[in-house]
Amino acid sequence: MEKIAITNKKQTKEDILRQSLLKERGQIPEHVAIIMDGNGRWAKERGKMRIQGHKAGVDSVRDSIEACAQLGVGHLTLYAFSTENWRRPKTEVSALMKLLIQTLRKETINLNKNDIRLNAIGELERLPSICLNELKEGMEMTKDNQRMVITLALSYSGRWDINNAVREIAQKFKSGEISADAINDDLIRKHLATAEIPDPDLLIRTGGDFRISNFLLWQCAYTEFFITNKYWPDFRRDQIYEAIEAYQTRERRFGMISEQLYEQQKTQAKATA
Ligand code: FPP
Repeated sequence: MEKIAITNKKQTKEDILRQSLLKERGQIPEHVAIIMDGNGRWAKERGKMRIQGHKAGVDSVRDSIEACAQLGVGHLTLYAFSTENWRRPKTEVSALMKLLIQTLRKETINLNKNDIRLNAIGELERLPSICLNELKEGMEMTKDNQRMVITLALSYSGRWDINNAVREIAQKFKSGEISADAINDDLIRKHLATAEIPDPDLLIRTGGDFRISNFLLWQCAYTEFFITNKYWPDFRRDQIYEAIEAYQTRERRFGMISEQLYEQQKTQAKATA
């Protein structure tokens, strides 16, 4: 399949080198999730309207998608609009929806040419119908693509996701389809909006705040966090590289101790030798 640059920029030699060093140095996270924050502050500091910050953020989205796809990240999930964002002034919400429609119209073909699948999670029925239709068309067009899955979290919140899962499980229990003993991590996971997506390995938050803001609450149980002060419109692939470099230095113990991890790695190495 023909692959064209999502950003329409030719990849520099330095960038190719930086990416291959990252790949050689350690593991590339399978799933990167991003809380794109700071658009409003970016705009305010420049005496612009908040929506200008959101518009500028689209270039950051493009560059992040391209860099992640080049690095071999399997899943990139972007928190584009939370359940709580509906509470913003009507003008900002409708400008954001318009931007989303325009961006989807413009970029879906590009994603498709790059073998990237578009996915969305959240209470999508709340989106304006034009937006929902663009989204559905984009998901349909790209559904067989294999290189990377980009998931837009739209009208999404972690609590909404958990509420839904609990409701569905309660209904199955009531109808006798499952017993109370069948409720475990795996069953809950299968009822979340992210059932088809692995948990994020790395969560990046821009804008400098140290909070999760109702994002993938269940899914981030063992996710590594990277917080940067950069506002989202200033965020580019260099910060993705920085985040992955930091990720590669972390020891993910999943509640165990270092020695156990070492033993596990030894066993795995023997099995694959
Ligand atoms: C948070 O910044 C950002 C958002 C609520 C919207 C993010 C949307 C985009 C980057 C536009 C397009 C996205 C896609 C996926 C096409 P904020 O407004 O909360 O900033 P602040 O904290 O400085 O006020």
